[in-house]
Amino acid sequence: MTNELSVEHLHFRYHEQAPYVLKDIWLTVPTGEWLTILGHNGSGKSTLAKFFNALLVPTEGGVISCGMDTKDEHQWTNIRRQVAMVFQNPDNQIVAPTVEDDVAFGLENAGIPYDEMRERVYSSIERLGLKGLETQEPHSLSGGQKQRVALAGALALKPRIIVLDEATSMLDPTGKKEVLAMVQKLKEEENITIISITHDVSEAMIADRIVVLNEGQLVLEGTPREILKDDETLKKSSLSAPFSVQVANELRKHHVAIADDVFSEEELINALCTYKQTN
Ligand SMILES: Nc1ncnc2c1ncn2[C@@H]1O[C@H](COP(=O)(O)OP(=O)(O)O)[C@@H](O)[C@H]1O
Ligand SMILES: [Mg+2]
Repeated sequence: MTNELSVEHLHFRYHEQAPYVLKDIWLTVPTGEWLTILGHNGSGKSTLAKFFNALLVPTEGGVISCGMDTKDEHQWTNIRRQVAMVFQNPDNQIVAPTVEDDVAFGLENAGIPYDEMRERVYSSIERLGLKGLETQEPHSLSGGQKQRVALAGALALKPRIIVLDEATSMLDPTGKKEVLAMVQKLKEEENITIISITHDVSEAMIADRIVVLNEGQLVLEGTPREILKDDETLKKSSLSAPFSVQVANELRKHHVAIADDVFSEEELINALCTYKQTN
């Protein structure tokens, strides 16, 4: 398995006198993985993400994105085409008067020929379930639809990595679910590597792997089940376990025999239904 991203020994501070915002980060992300970078507000997540597509360039340590050294400025255009970013506020990402123009925007900038551009725009619109909305004004859409437009724009660039920086944090639960389902589909069908950045533990449950960032340091690494079941350890990083895990823990404290491996809400519901039937 090859690595889509490799970060080595990365230290960073915004100004010479300022404290370090990133402290000795080591991180590799294999092709096709969904990695979640989990951390409380101000822990350094967005700063770290900017190193992935050369919006920031290391002065101490190094970052290799899709095989390219981000210190090499001749590669910056290429890197930014391969590493697409979707940000928190859907309204700030809308640049064109219609959905199709918005999806095409990045391709126009990349100088993609017209026929190919049309092909990519319509196939991305279709893949993100936005067919029928091509000529709609993006501002008239729901939050979830707007983020899907942003994702379609990213997908049209045929990236190898999509970085989602709190991309669902302004959405309602339905919008959140709809966007995450689309991301899952892109990962599975296109083998795109996903790096999602969030402070939301429930969103982190879907990832293949989680790293926890606290005060600029990567402090934990593991599968969602390993990381998110340990409320005590999460608290040290100003996070807490997902609701379903907390409920299961509380029930156990009250001598309700819930299985140790209960993790998702669905598993909790199943455990409770079985419990009721057998007791
Ligand atoms: N442009 C900037 N200039 C100076 N300090 C910044 C800048 N952007 C972020 N910071 C500081 O860096 C730290 C990490 O911020 P950030 O990477 O945005 O964290 P997160 O995304 O986890 O909320 C914070 O203390 C923040 O105030
Ligand atoms: Mg941030």
